Amino acid sequence: MKRKIAVLPGDGIGKEVTRGAVEILQAIAERYNHEFEFQYGSIGGGAIDETGNPLPEETIEMCKASDAVLLGAVGGPKWDNNPSHLRPERGLLAIRKELDLYANLRPISYYSSLSEASPLRKEIIEEVDLIIVRELTGGLYFGKPSERTTHEGKEAVVDTLFYKREEIKRIIELAFKVANGRRKKVTSVDKANVLESSRLWREVAEEVAASYPEVELEHMLVDNAAMQLIRNPRQFDVIVTENMFGDILSDEASVLTGSLGMLPSASLSIGGPSMYEPIHGSAPDIAGMNVANPLATILSAASMLRLSFGLEEEAEEIERAVRDVLDAGFRTRDIVADGTKVLSTTEMVAEVKASILDNEAII
Ligand code: NAD
Ligand code: IPM
Ligand code: MN
Repeated sequence: MKRKIAVLPGDGIGKEVTRGAVEILQAIAERYNHEFEFQYGSIGGGAIDETGNPLPEETIEMCKASDAVLLGAVGGPKWDNNPSHLRPERGLLAIRKELDLYANLRPISYYSSLSEASPLRKEIIEEVDLIIVRELTGGLYFGKPSERTTHEGKEAVVDTLFYKREEIKRIIELAFKVANGRRKKVTSVDKANVLESSRLWREVAEEVAASYPEVELEHMLVDNAAMQLIRNPRQFDVIVTENMFGDILSDEASVLTGSLGMLPSASLSIGGPSMYEPIHGSAPDIAGMNVANPLATILSAASMLRLSFGLEEEAEEIERAVRDVLDAGFRTRDIVADGTKVLSTTEMVAEVKASILDNEAII
């Protein structure tokens, strides 16, 4: 069966890391006899430069006609002062909305060989295994109005945190399903001591929990959660939270694995194609230098194989190759430690690829 993969490299290191992930998918196709067809689309700053639109219509059509989407990252200083409708990030938000990617799964796994790469002590991060289930198509990111305004004749501004009960319910239900297949604990993170939206969130979480008696539900305020994540991360199994809290907490949680460059994600829709994206951005400070860590995007591609194509063995093969390459002491510079070998982006991709192509256990 031929599978169509839409690739949206985007800006900055997005181009470098997606190139790497595509090479790894090609290696998987070769070893396991699959047919992946890659189609490329523009999004973000590059798309603004080429078409005046951060998400051209043809990119949307191509994604909708695909079986899954692989995204790099968007954004960069060149477009930072653009008006809001001409910002690269608008393209990313729009494709998430167009594909109805309501759930963003951000797993945080411990790599024993990377324990030295984290600024946190090994005793704290050892065996961490948690997943952030981030609501992705609602909340402050999408609420209207969101604009400059005036209030009593003075300059003012408004952003709106809006959720429909149904949107809260579907993401919390997903979190319970995910927890059911794991250690059966959901931590619902909110700011219910201040926000009305969080109070509804809590109410819905209690309601959903009633259908999952075997899963424990706890509520935690987001400020405390930010602290608990680095004080005692092993207490968490599944964290479910609204769009912006999830964005912030997941960058924080990346420190547990050693680097932002290690964290993959899967943005899921209910019926249509899902999108796979590293959680990091376009990293303008290192863009074009061939030093970015491609592993977050490679691991996102593994999630694509697992969640969109049902190719569990192939997904595990990529994850095995990544672990083995790290265990062998190969590092990009964001995760370097004493005694390890610093590789460029392309060299790291080549190591992972060789590990897959040379694996005699694949029949
Ligand atoms: P960033 O994630 O791009 O970078 C933060 C820091 O992490 C930088 O020092 C960067 O060099 C480092 N880093 C990130 N990914 C790395 C990797 N794979 N390997 C090694 N180091 C890595 O965040 P930022 O600097 O705040 O934002 C830069 C631009 O990216 C902004 O325009 C922002 O809007 C955009 N952004 C896009 C996405 C996305 O497309 N999904 C996500 C976050 C930020
Ligand atoms: C992410 C990014 C995006 C977000 C931005 C670029 C819109 O930070 O994917 O985490 O906030 O969702
Ligand atoms: Mn983010």
